[in-house]
Amino acid sequence: MTPFAARRARPVEAMEPGAVAVLATAPGTVRNGDADYPYRHDSYFYYLSGFTEPESVLVLVAAQGSTPARSILFCRPKDVEREIWDGFRHGPEAARTAFGFDEAWPVSELDAQMACLLANAPALYYAIAQNAALDAQVAGWLKAVRAQSRSGVTAPGRSHHLLALLDEMRLVKDESEQALMARAAAISGGAHARAMRAARPGMFEYELEAELLHEFRRHGAQAPAYTPIVASGANACILHYSANNTQTRDGDLVLIDAGCEFDSYAADITRTFPVNGRFSEPQKRLYELVLRAQEAALAAIVPGRPYSDVHDAAVNVLVEGMLEHGLLDRAKYGSVDNVLAERAHTRFYMHGTGHWLGLDVHDTGSYRDLAREGKPSRPLVPGMALTVEPGIYVRPGPDVPEQFWHIGIRIEDDVIVGDAGARVLSDAAPKTVPDIEAAMKGA
Ligand code: GLY
Ligand code: MN
Ligand code: MN
Repeated sequence: MTPFAARRARPVEAMEPGAVAVLATAPGTVRNGDADYPYRHDSYFYYLSGFTEPESVLVLVAAQGSTPARSILFCRPKDVEREIWDGFRHGPEAARTAFGFDEAWPVSELDAQMACLLANAPALYYAIAQNAALDAQVAGWLKAVRAQSRSGVTAPGRSHHLLALLDEMRLVKDESEQALMARAAAISGGAHARAMRAARPGMFEYELEAELLHEFRRHGAQAPAYTPIVASGANACILHYSANNTQTRDGDLVLIDAGCEFDSYAADITRTFPVNGRFSEPQKRLYELVLRAQEAALAAIVPGRPYSDVHDAAVNVLVEGMLEHGLLDRAKYGSVDNVLAERAHTRFYMHGTGHWLGLDVHDTGSYRDLAREGKPSRPLVPGMALTVEPGIYVRPGPDVPEQFWHIGIRIEDDVIVGDAGARVLSDAAPKTVPDIEAAMKGA
């Protein structure tokens, strides 16, 4: 059984007997004229199908009594003329055998088939309000079924949110997913190492971005998983900087946040390094603080511990360092706890320490245990994948030591929760001060 068929079996088991689930892939987007944006399939659809062609819909019918469950794909038909222009398409028959569906139909049959499939089904599982055109189509199917009521046909009486079932599944990665994530992280880590080796004062940020993109593609990654951030000097204090068009200067740090998508799985890695290959003393002091915070956060990744421990561990180290280095006034705050109570640290560390990672860079799944009173942070479970990304961002101010002005540092790794703790996937990217300086000197 392919991992996709195994995944399809799980929502089907959780559905009401005889219920029908409908899941469409992402629509294509026209850029202008007859040029399209690069096509990217929907992650939920891919998770259950493995099928990457546009204009596809997956239907799952849950077993009922002696009637077994069924998986049905609707996809583009074979079309020799279109394939001359746009390339290969499977067509229903080849897709059915290659991807292990029980049935496959041309997508032009969708409306007619759905009116049959939904007749007498007790419930519909669907992701409403994701795609207005599809919502209207679903309404049309239900109307068509209701129109048969005189002959005793019933329309689904209940609807359920399909994605809620899939979000929980996607949160814990199976073996094939873990292998793809490891590959995405290895390629991306190598790309960070390459950018470090290429860096010279005076280069433009986009030249470093080009090194990353080159390394992604030459290892078969399909695309960046998100818009790369290459932020030198003060730009590193802009959290979502993406212009990447500034010339670097001797003495700058460069913060690079970039990861590739490999076979639909994202990496998300950040490294910060001196463009001239040597950390200055103030840069090194803050860098090693962020690194210690990251080590503390990684050590908190243990099955059974709440997700929020990861952030709390990083923040404790960062706040102690802010007091030690005079970013926060110890005479004013006294203790770490007082800083936390006043949230004074958020001036220099204003984001969370990570997020789920997978098919999407900010992957699906709740961060809280929604079934428990007060919805506490959820316990970590082996197979979850997350980023660990503490940072520090120092904007100038009269009460801020000048030696730290404009320093922005983030260190981000990709991790899978293992039985014994964090398994770091992204260690191909040099991270300690000596390793970064050695890698850049070696260049
Ligand atoms: N690159 C996006 C993030 O770090 O969350
Ligand atoms: Mn990132
Ligand atoms: Mn991230």
